[in-house]
Amino acid sequence: MKFQAIDLLNGRSRSAGIPKRVLLVPSTLLLTIFLVSLISRSSKTLSPEVDTSNSHALLPSIDTSSSNSTEEKSCDVFLGEWVSYPGGPRYYDETCKLLLDQQNCFKNGRPDREFLNWRWKPYECDLPLFDATQFLKLVRGKSMAFVGDSVGRNHMLSLLCLLSTVASPEKLSSRYEPLSPYAKYESSQWFYADYNFTLGMFFSPFLVRSILSDPNGFSWNSRVNVYLDEADEEWTTRIQTFDHVILSAAQWFWRQMVFYEKGQVVGCFGCKNENITDLPNTYGLRKVFRTALRTLNELKGYNGVTFLRTYSPTHFENGEFNTGGSCPRRKPFAKGERRLEGYPLEAYLTQVEEFRTAEKEGRKKGLQFRLLETTEAMMLRPDGHPNHYGRMKNKNVKVVDCVHWCCPGPIDTWNEFLLHFMKLGTQTSSS
Ligand SMILES: *[C@@H]1O[C@H](CO)[C@@H](O)[C@H](O)[C@H]1NC(C)=O
Ligand SMILES: *[C@@H]1O[C@H](CO)[C@@H](O)[C@H](O)[C@H]1NC(C)=O
Ligand SMILES: *[C@@H]1O[C@H](CO)[C@@H](O)[C@H](O)[C@H]1NC(C)=O
Repeated sequence: MKFQAIDLLNGRSRSAGIPKRVLLVPSTLLLTIFLVSLISRSSKTLSPEVDTSNSHALLPSIDTSSSNSTEEKSCDVFLGEWVSYPGGPRYYDETCKLLLDQQNCFKNGRPDREFLNWRWKPYECDLPLFDATQFLKLVRGKSMAFVGDSVGRNHMLSLLCLLSTVASPEKLSSRYEPLSPYAKYESSQWFYADYNFTLGMFFSPFLVRSILSDPNGFSWNSRVNVYLDEADEEWTTRIQTFDHVILSAAQWFWRQMVFYEKGQVVGCFGCKNENITDLPNTYGLRKVFRTALRTLNELKGYNGVTFLRTYSPTHFENGEFNTGGSCPRRKPFAKGERRLEGYPLEAYLTQVEEFRTAEKEGRKKGLQFRLLETTEAMMLRPDGHPNHYGRMKNKNVKVVDCVHWCCPGPIDTWNEFLLHFMKLGTQTSSS
């Protein structure tokens, strides 16, 4: 099976009820498979338990004592709630040319706008609105790379649109040949000449080397070999000059995955093969973050700030992505209305643990690390996904997407977080 149809694979939902025979069409097959990878079975995690016993209602407390920077002590911007903000920030709309139809919900006909009328309010401080000029001044002469899955690209597209009010980038699409078969259709670079600022996406959904390897070709449950200790050259060979690197991965860890370490099979997730040890998907997730972060810590010439954007929850209800599930809600959950558990919680905890370990190591070399802990805030936003107003990338095919986020929408908050930390970065280095 060739990879020519792989532009389909970056994570979208599939509407239910597709006749089986349609699955014989290769592109549809690909679509379906990759959907599965991207869609965690979040509906199972949405049992309506309420826990308001502590301020961090959704998450167990995490030991952050290793984080000793004054700014993190002064205000945890990730600890807060969505508050009504009539009129919304309205940074951009469906006319933003840089948006993909995939996440351009209004262009695709989404009728309701109430989901724009909310802002994230940290309890202990205010998260300022995004200021595109301020952002571009901070990144003048610098570069930023998003590395990982299509939710990472979703984040970058939000940033491109936020900046589009101030500057237009040039697309540097073919500066190099992509190394991984998927990346051909997914990686992209942009250049803001007025600010000498380069922004790039390196598509690497596992962060490590992976091979789509099913002998029967692709299907929704076909298998991928994941080399847990070999960082993906798609990004490792290009990242060393970047000043900011934002990692995003976890959405693909529902696939059947054969895990390799030192070139040997160590186990498998979802293979149901008596000859291979069953391992949880978080086993793989932990190792790929360990590998990716270690690679950055050891990469010659790399002097950037590494961000890890934590797991982005999905919100299928009344079924899975392929059994009629959807995400029809039109407003956020109230604080405590939903509890993070199951895979979203495990993925989040795994990422934070690996991040903390790498941060300690990196600090010895003067490298900076930042956690973008968006998981809890986004858990509360079932209304922020395309739902029925999603599209396949580069195809006018409708999908029910409760994985990615509408642009504009609550994902724009991720860039408010990003700007917040970039401002702190300059304060710390100049003081
Ligand atoms: C945190 O910073 C304070 C003041 O700089 C220092 O005394 C303390 O040892 C640091 N703690 C850790 C865990 O690094
Ligand atoms: C643009 O930025 C790069 C670093 O990203 C730097 O090497 C180069 O000198 C800058 N060019 C100009 C014209 O400032
Ligand atoms: C497991 O290994 C045995 C012996 O090599 C083989 O006969 C059997 O088919 C294998 N089972 C699976 C599910 O691959």
